[in-house]
Amino acid sequence: MAKYKIAWMPGDGVGNEVMAATRIVLDAMQFDAEYVPADIGWKFWCEEGNPLPDRTIDILKQTDCALFGAITSKPRDEANDELAPELKDKGLVYFSPIVKLRQLFNLHTNLRPCKAFPGNPLNYRDDVDLVVFRENTEGMYGGVEWFPLPEKVYDAMCDNPKMVKWKDKGLDNVALSTRIMSKQGCESICRQAFEYAKTHKRASVTLVEKPNVLRETGGLMTRVFRDVAKEYPGIEPWEANIDAICMWMIKNPQDYAVLVAENMFGDIVSDLCAGLVGGLGFASAANIGDEYAVFEPTHGSAPKYDGQNIVNPMAMLLTAKLMFDWLGEDDMASRLENAVAKVINDGTVATYDVKGRGNGNSTTEVAQEVARNL
Ligand code: IPM
Ligand code: MG
Repeated sequence: MAKYKIAWMPGDGVGNEVMAATRIVLDAMQFDAEYVPADIGWKFWCEEGNPLPDRTIDILKQTDCALFGAITSKPRDEANDELAPELKDKGLVYFSPIVKLRQLFNLHTNLRPCKAFPGNPLNYRDDVDLVVFRENTEGMYGGVEWFPLPEKVYDAMCDNPKMVKWKDKGLDNVALSTRIMSKQGCESICRQAFEYAKTHKRASVTLVEKPNVLRETGGLMTRVFRDVAKEYPGIEPWEANIDAICMWMIKNPQDYAVLVAENMFGDIVSDLCAGLVGGLGFASAANIGDEYAVFEPTHGSAPKYDGQNIVNPMAMLLTAKLMFDWLGEDDMASRLENAVAKVINDGTVATYDVKGRGNGNSTTEVAQEVARNL
């Protein structure tokens, strides 16, 4: 029997290609795993009205963790249009399967390292080495939303006098998305950011929030951050507003080490940080809970490149490295990261996005080159 059981979820679009590329490398490493394929994504929404079938959830429950390629998410109306004719008018509502997985398995922490590998011509600066801790189940992406706004929700919200003005617009014209955050959620993500800084000897942790405007949610997060920071005297606690950090990240990204943020701000700032180290082709990510984890690169399914085998597999390979970290397979993790670093630094084999390097190599060729350098 294999040492690990890994749920294998290519998902949509280029997810299939980067996962196939990753398999080349995992096999070359002789990683002792059984891969269990699991259905997820747009195809299953269109054909079955469910992008995350129950059989997939069962598979996840029987595995150690999951590797996940990418997902296509579309707004409500487009999703309805693409549903199989016999499923239309059944009141089915599209949901993002990755957001659902995060909720279902309580994958509360989204870890997103952004490191400038030496020799990558796409580095904004060569001394960027950041990790984003994104709260993954609460906040703006918690999914508590309405359109149109039900009367009873409106009435309850009139407890706050600022709500009254929306009645004039007609509740049929009003959409509401909430930002609900708990003290426990804030504390967990802040603590993990500080713990990471401590074990990885990082000098600072920066909270990304907006407490001057989002007074209650941002205020709670800020108070909790300050309390947790007191337990880590060696680590500097910095605070930045989401708008300001977008500027500081362009001006002085080398000054930052660990960022911590609520769900939406973490989503935004992690794409920004990815842009500093070569873009989404280099941005790995891990959705981590207490018992389970789903490893999925930051990038999406990139429909425009689907089927061409040209996208950069490095993000997915570095995501597999995060899986090794989480499994405690430290040797595997460093072997894989070193091979990726070597191929980036050599620059002879690279996908089209790495301008000036390689020869517009395919996704597969880059993976083979990494395998050769293990
Ligand atoms: C990400 C993505 C997802 C998110 C989308 C596809 C739901 O942008 O993982 O960063 O917002 O979390
Ligand atoms: Mg995102």
